[in-house]
Amino acid sequence: LCTVVLKLGGSLITWKEKPLKPRVDVISRISKEIGRALRKRETLRLVIVHGGGSYGHPYAYKYKIHEGLKPDQSKYQVYGLGQTTDAMRKLSLIISESLRKEGIPVFPIQASSISILKDGRIDKFFQEPLEMLLKIGAVPLLWGDVALDVNRGFGIVSGDELSVKLAVTLNASKIIFTLDIDGIYTKPPGTNGAQLIRYLRPGMENVDYSVRKRDVTGGVMRKIVEAEPLVSAGKLVVLFINGLVEGRVEKALLGEQVVGTIYSSSSPSLEPPSR
Ligand code: IPE
Repeated sequence: LCTVVLKLGGSLITWKEKPLKPRVDVISRISKEIGRALRKRETLRLVIVHGGGSYGHPYAYKYKIHEGLKPDQSKYQVYGLGQTTDAMRKLSLIISESLRKEGIPVFPIQASSISILKDGRIDKFFQEPLEMLLKIGAVPLLWGDVALDVNRGFGIVSGDELSVKLAVTLNASKIIFTLDIDGIYTKPPGTNGAQLIRYLRPGMENVDYSVRKRDVTGGVMRKIVEAEPLVSAGKLVVLFINGLVEGRVEKALLGEQVVGTIYSSSSPSLEPPSR
């Protein structure tokens, strides 16, 4: 058995500049790809995490959830705390229904109910329900969420941190981050001379990343920083791929070579394909 964590980026599954607008066509195509991969590879144990995009982030900003409880605004913020998590639940429902339509036995688990933060990081994490779901052949679905924080009142569990936490606690061998670009670039994508990095090794992370607006949880750099210890230890391979290109999610889940960035501590054995 092989456990893989698949993170669906918020900018892939929602229109990031349009509040509460899902990219229905992308969600439905990716659901089909996941369904096919699961049928083809029976040993695959999959956990899916999705991001906030234009659902979670605008509310998190509005109520400054990521800044923790402010004594002078606590009523307003606590009101917004539930609203932020509900926005994420709406998006999550769209995704789980789309996955289920493809026959995937998806089961939602709300991160705020199984984790407690300490200074903005996951401190306590109750993974047993997830282990039990995997055991019965279900596909747990989680998402970047709000959570209670022992020191700050509350904060955000980013889907990226959650993905790494899941990889650790469930002994996953791979995390696949799906983005709306091909992978990690030497400079912000679109700028002059920006090149896709095919292989990224720990210690080589010194590249100039794209910075996105309206993102309370840190973009691509955050994903690398989160995964670095496990990747360095040789326990985890992290793949960054473009979820907008048909077929890449399926290939990545099947363990086939795919265009993207491989973040790993071992040397590449084969050249990655160029298409
Ligand atoms: C953020 O999740 C969730 C909230 C703002 C509540 P992520 O950090 O995983 O979202 P994306 O993928 O960057 O949109």
